[in-house]
Amino acid sequence: MLTTFPKDFLWGGETADFQYEGGYDQDGRGLLSHDFETTGSATQPRQLTLRLKDGSRGTVNAHDSLPAGAEVALYDDVYYPSHQATDFYHHWQEDIDLMAEMGFTTYRFSICWSRIFPTGDEAEPNQNGLHFYDQVIDYLIANGIEPIVTICHDELPNELCVKYDGWSSRHVIDCYVKYAETLIRHYRGRVRYWITFNEINILSGYIAIGTHQQDPQTRYQAIHHMFVANALAIKNGRAINPEAQFGAMYALSETYPATCKPEDVFAAYQTRRNDGLFYVDVMARGYYPNYTAEKFAAEGVTLQTTPADLQLLKENTIDFISFSYYRSMVATAQADGSVKVNNENPYLVSTPWGWPIDPLGLRYCLNELYDRYQKPLIVIENGLGAVDELTADGQVHDDYRINYLRDHLKAIRDAITLDHVPCIGYTMWGNTDLVSLSTGEMKKRYGFVYVDMDDQGHGSLKRIRKDSFAWFKQVLASHGADLTRQI
Ligand code: BG6
Repeated sequence: MLTTFPKDFLWGGETADFQYEGGYDQDGRGLLSHDFETTGSATQPRQLTLRLKDGSRGTVNAHDSLPAGAEVALYDDVYYPSHQATDFYHHWQEDIDLMAEMGFTTYRFSICWSRIFPTGDEAEPNQNGLHFYDQVIDYLIANGIEPIVTICHDELPNELCVKYDGWSSRHVIDCYVKYAETLIRHYRGRVRYWITFNEINILSGYIAIGTHQQDPQTRYQAIHHMFVANALAIKNGRAINPEAQFGAMYALSETYPATCKPEDVFAAYQTRRNDGLFYVDVMARGYYPNYTAEKFAAEGVTLQTTPADLQLLKENTIDFISFSYYRSMVATAQADGSVKVNNENPYLVSTPWGWPIDPLGLRYCLNELYDRYQKPLIVIENGLGAVDELTADGQVHDDYRINYLRDHLKAIRDAITLDHVPCIGYTMWGNTDLVSLSTGEMKKRYGFVYVDMDDQGHGSLKRIRKDSFAWFKQVLASHGADLTRQI
């Protein structure tokens, strides 16, 4: 019987290309949907910069529909966080050295689609792009770190958005499958774990699904095309590399009823199912579940599917489930039948960005997922976004992060040892500081490693070990047995 983490448990961190890599115009990389996104804040939504139909300048909230006739455009006087990010493109060796120093046994990262297929439509991949990740993957393996690769992290080559309206077009299924096959073939023998899509259950907006309009009909049709692309990539990927393991990744922060009033309890159940588990149901079980009809009717969605699509979904399900877990939320039934979901839980303390800290919710989530799907689980994103202070003598004392991570690791350990849930790995989000997805800020930091850069991209990009770096190193040296020790 296990009393702590299993010996072969995967320990590490993880990042996403457009938040971390930079090098946006180097070595043949094409523009990505995210390259047009400005910085924002907790109260100021990020914007896409536009050329309007009449040729004038404009902006739109990154998750809203584009005005008719407008296309995204870059302007010299605007700061775009993805262009430099925290410059992994030029610091990859140094950053991997730091991962190895902590004792990582895995590192999950995403490949930038437009680095491999700059417009998405080319017949042949950009060799420079493949070469960049050759170096990264080879260096990881040389350091005993198993790569887990996300094929698509909330992005697509911008040309696919402009020419085809992103995932609303079935043509993008072919582009994605060609891209996925290229990666699986090229990195065969070096990459075993593949994640087809990141947080597919919360994807929306031009930046993530590439559509100009953001109504439910457009979104769910796009998501259906992604489900088909996932199934085809798995089918063809298994033919290319039978050793490969395929998973998808979901944002599954827990949802609780606000009270024990039956209406609140049922509202929480439905919210959980419609906004999260629905996507896992389709990709892990291979079919649209029974409640789909009611869900789509409520949102006015009529899905266009073919018998061949449904057959593909059925025959090509994922091998493992990975998910992000940062917080829990609360659902309250409203008198008009709608549901209010927010962060207002009086029993929990929140981060400065208002996310309630709830380690037990992670144990709950692991149990819920294994009870429902009986597939291996990876906690693929977890961490604390906080304002870190660099002291005059160049240190970062982030005991708040150590406390957060320790409590969440204890919850995973309890799920493994007490509930017998097969959780096979943990990757902490943003192990090296990177740009926040939701706000585009640098001041919302997650890392074990501080990067000297501010919200406008100024700074030396120097890497500095935080206190949590030494703590995590101790945790890994004990294979997770020692979570209590302080540095
Ligand atoms: C997840 C994403 O939703 O949360 C990451 O997969 C993201 O890309 C992370 O960075 C944390 O969110 P944020 O907005 O604090 O960066």
